[in-house]
Amino acid sequence: MEAFNYLVRARGEHPPAPLELTGAAQAERAAAFHAGLPGYAPTPLVSLPGLARKLGVAQVWVKDESERFGLNAFKALGGSYAMARCLADRLGRPLEELGYAGLCAPEAREKLGRLTFVTATDGNHGRGVAWSARMLGHRAVVYMPRGSAQERLENIRAQGAQAEITEYNYDDTVRLASRQAQEHGWTLVQDTAWPGYEEIPAHIMQGYTTLAREIAAQLEGERPTHLFLQAGVGSFAGAVLGYFAGLWGEERPVTAVVEPDKADCHYRSALADDGKLRFVTGDMDSMMAGLCCGEPCTISWEILNAYADAFLSVGDFYSAAGMRLLGRPEPGDRRIVSGESGAVGAGVLAGIMQEERLDGLRRALGLDECARVLLISTEGDTDRENYRRVLGL
Ligand SMILES: Cc1ncc(COP(=O)(O)O)c(C=O)c1O
Repeated sequence: MEAFNYLVRARGEHPPAPLELTGAAQAERAAAFHAGLPGYAPTPLVSLPGLARKLGVAQVWVKDESERFGLNAFKALGGSYAMARCLADRLGRPLEELGYAGLCAPEAREKLGRLTFVTATDGNHGRGVAWSARMLGHRAVVYMPRGSAQERLENIRAQGAQAEITEYNYDDTVRLASRQAQEHGWTLVQDTAWPGYEEIPAHIMQGYTTLAREIAAQLEGERPTHLFLQAGVGSFAGAVLGYFAGLWGEERPVTAVVEPDKADCHYRSALADDGKLRFVTGDMDSMMAGLCCGEPCTISWEILNAYADAFLSVGDFYSAAGMRLLGRPEPGDRRIVSGESGAVGAGVLAGIMQEERLDGLRRALGLDECARVLLISTEGDTDRENYRRVLGL
């Protein structure tokens, strides 16, 4: 039987958390910066009526992040904004005044010199950091966990970064990047927070709110009833849920956080529910590489713990099912190329609607023929070999 564990919470079971971090004011600042970046355009929000019919819900929307800046994933939204905020700080001027053009102006370049940004990544975040460093005229050093796909490494190198695959798992690779930053005086741009390292991850989360803000505009007044958010360290899920909780309050969609069963640190932390985070260690052997993180981001956890309605821990089967559902559309639906970490929400939705053993979960979430479900395909085929294998191409 394919792994599928879940925990559903009653609304209001946990006290609300502050939402300023990902609120409208911060989201607007991030969006204004992104709008000035070369190649910026909102990614499509695609309605899939054929899939909705097949699964027995009223509506399915998929935000397709494969088109983001030509990088095949949403991640550059975070890295670029955090790096820009950091450069503006060094220049002693607000980013609102400088914008992308101001950061690249000759006076700014001269004052800043050539800085080095360092990070650890499963692939997408590092590619975003490498791209941002190149766009802003600085240097990037990127470390990847053992087992990372060669294609993902090459994509980072293609942006001019120095990149290598280490012998460590994801969380230990983060510690390596942090040590390297300290030793060499580099700036660590990590997409996860821990006690004492919160400012840059907060800016990264604010960068992610741009996609949530785009969705709100693209919905043209409609509101989803359900939302599936995949989590690695949880910064993405926390940013999106935080933005929607601020925007819609109690009218926000019923939101499920989805993780691979091999890296389900949020699910385990929610299950324990004693105020302490639970880590997953060792090799997290899932093809959902972007979600193979064993230690939750501390600042996004505050939001997820307060506002998420369910935590799901699922096997790779659901990711593969989602990749196929989106990659081989129903007649009339648009095809979405969705990679391992991007497609799991679609696979999970199908599982909940179609598997008898998940009837209880379907009822607890209120997923029925009136449901209007929002999914975010956070990456395209970032590992093409595996994509072809899963789709049988
Ligand atoms: C494609 C994709 N989706 C989702 C995530 C999850 O983001 P987070 O680690 O902030 O939870 C990642 C993280 O790398 C990713 O690459």
